[in-house]
Amino acid sequence: MTPHLMEEGARRLATASGGRSAGFSRVAVAGEVDVTHGRILYLEDVSVSFDGFRAINKLSLDIAPGELRCIIGPNGAGKTTMMDIITGKTRPDAGTVFFGSTIDLLRYKESDIAQMGIGRKFQKPTVFEQLTVVENLELALKTDKGVRASIFFRPDSAESDRLAEVLRTIHLAGSAARLAGTLSHGQKQWLEIGMLLMQDPKLLLLDEPVAGMTDEETARTAELFLSLKGQHSLMVVEHDMSFIKTISEKVTVLHEGAVLAEGTLEQVQSDERVIEVYLGR
Ligand SMILES: Nc1ncnc2c1ncn2[C@@H]1O[C@H](COP(=O)(O)OP(=O)(O)OP(=O)(O)O)[C@@H](O)[C@H]1O
Ligand SMILES: [Mg+2]
Repeated sequence: MTPHLMEEGARRLATASGGRSAGFSRVAVAGEVDVTHGRILYLEDVSVSFDGFRAINKLSLDIAPGELRCIIGPNGAGKTTMMDIITGKTRPDAGTVFFGSTIDLLRYKESDIAQMGIGRKFQKPTVFEQLTVVENLELALKTDKGVRASIFFRPDSAESDRLAEVLRTIHLAGSAARLAGTLSHGQKQWLEIGMLLMQDPKLLLLDEPVAGMTDEETARTAELFLSLKGQHSLMVVEHDMSFIKTISEKVTVLHEGAVLAEGTLEQVQSDERVIEVYLGR
């Protein structure tokens, strides 16, 4: 489907249900992202400038449902800015950004986008150090329940099952009662990923997730990501090439705000232009 048609679809959806906020309550229902056209995320000709500098320059890219996409590229290539645009933190000057084939992300604000099922992990872990591992995960469930509900929050049985499953997935089942502040850097990163998983995101954006991890933690993070793909779509930005090698299927190389090359890691690593701007440094 062309972006034009997708936009039309989204417009109809929004007007049919009474405008922007009503449109959101429709799409916020889990499982409603329309991926019948084989794309969970779709960017076309996206541009953004900061004080006249084009950080993102006619960027086009799409991600398939369940895919684990790796994004590499030199410092300043626009990788983080791209995630800022997808998550509604930065508004592009031009272009199209769709979640599935009907949700025009540019119509929504950051908190709405998070609730639709796009989870984002920044580089620095932001767990609550004075709370236990389990309390951190419970907190992730409470975010949309309001303050009063939060104070009296008790997970129901489905949520308890989910909590136990997430604890296993992030390799912290044996540390459930530990204070998050006592975890290693890698474990804090996993806990934060776990907090995202509690909300069962369709798409996870992970910016330099293994920076600062030990080799062993990095290896376990690779296992974790491989176990997540399929159920979730992942976009992983990393500079650590051995990590990328372990997890990657398709790799996108960004340079000066646009796609320079795309393919398997081997393909992009043997691309002359990629070697020149990134790998050959
Ligand atoms: N809010 C902003 N205001 C001004 N300039 C910005 C802003 N955000 C990003 N930039 C600039 O846009 C360019 C792209 O930055 P970005 O952080 O997206 O790069 P990156 O690919 O994530 O790099 P790195 O690998 O170092 O994290 C850089 O030149 C950066 O200085
Ligand atoms: Mg960055």
